[in-house]
Amino acid sequence: AVNERESMYLVSEFAQKQFSEILFKNELGKAIGLSYFKERGFTEETIKKFGLGYCLDQWDAFTKTALEKGYQLDYLEKTGLTIVKKDSEGGGARTFDRFKGRVMFPIHSMSGRVLGFGGRILTSDKKAAKYLNSPESDIYHKSKVLYGIYFAKQAIAKEDNCYLVEGYTDVIQFYQRGIENVVASSGTALTPDQIRLINRLTKNITVLFDGDAAGLRASLRGIDLILEQGMNVKVCTFPEGEDPDSFSKNNAYGEVVAYLQENSKDFIQFKASLLVREAANDPIKRADTIRDIVQSISKIPDRIKREVYIQECAMIMNISEGVLFNTLAQIGRMEI
Ligand code: CTP
Ligand code: MN
Ligand code: MN
Ligand code: MN
Ligand code: MN
Repeated sequence: AVNERESMYLVSEFAQKQFSEILFKNELGKAIGLSYFKERGFTEETIKKFGLGYCLDQWDAFTKTALEKGYQLDYLEKTGLTIVKKDSEGGGARTFDRFKGRVMFPIHSMSGRVLGFGGRILTSDKKAAKYLNSPESDIYHKSKVLYGIYFAKQAIAKEDNCYLVEGYTDVIQFYQRGIENVVASSGTALTPDQIRLINRLTKNITVLFDGDAAGLRASLRGIDLILEQGMNVKVCTFPEGEDPDSFSKNNAYGEVVAYLQENSKDFIQFKASLLVREAANDPIKRADTIRDIVQSISKIPDRIKREVYIQECAMIMNISEGVLFNTLAQIGRMEI
């Protein structure tokens, strides 16, 4: 129901303000949360812009405050801010703050409403997840949200390009550095709905990968979804051990822009080169590689672009265009 969802928005927006107030005004919030963000290089202006906050490391301090202010437990539970555990005896129930002891990143809709949160743990407890996110709810559908889109949308349209990064801190650090056309998929594989959000603003995406290689191979297939929507895709990797956050924290605006300019490569060319290098002289791997790259090319809606890419890849992979065109035709027949 509309009223139910509105109540969930209101409680989420209250939570955002409350976590932010704790961060700036509470002694523990300042000592733990605010100093954490400052150590990461975020200015107070940036922290306020993105609405960052802190949830006290106490069992249900946030839930109690929300209830005192008149917010209903039902909506606190539906948004996932509060975890309610029924006593086995029946009757009573105990409440816990889901994000206890975490610094908070509110996740905004395209129009700026608070849909949910990501919370980062501050201890190096290996058992707990580094980031905890709000559960799916009637207002938070993680497959339809891009972190940062509310702040980035104007710059994406103006620059006619969107940088897609892996995490919350990458978005924030890039933005603070002056590169505002940046969003993150935040821990989920990229979805068609997320791509559509960008597609409405620009046809050009540059995907930025952490320099840890782990994520790269796994993410390549997901990029086909971007090609499928007729968008132009570039990719850019960062030096080993760096991500867009650390890189833009440690380099000036001009250096970051220069790095992006020099290292952004057309996705199909990048993938073809990568696959060729990996397959080396192994004939079976080379065959798989051909199918893999043609699979990506087959997703491109524009026939002329497909043909140009076939020519490019034939050169990169040192194979005849004919073989690639035949493979493309084969894939086409399989999909019909
Ligand atoms: N992520 C998540 N759950 C985890 C780990 C990661 O949801 N347990 C998501 C977060 O949105 C995170 C993104 O995946 O921002 C990228 O992960 P990673 O590169 O590991 O984190 P960073 O953003 O670099 O985090 P930090 O710099 O704070 O360590
Ligand atoms: Mn819904
Ligand atoms: Mn990573
Ligand atoms: Mn990272
Ligand atoms: Mn990082």
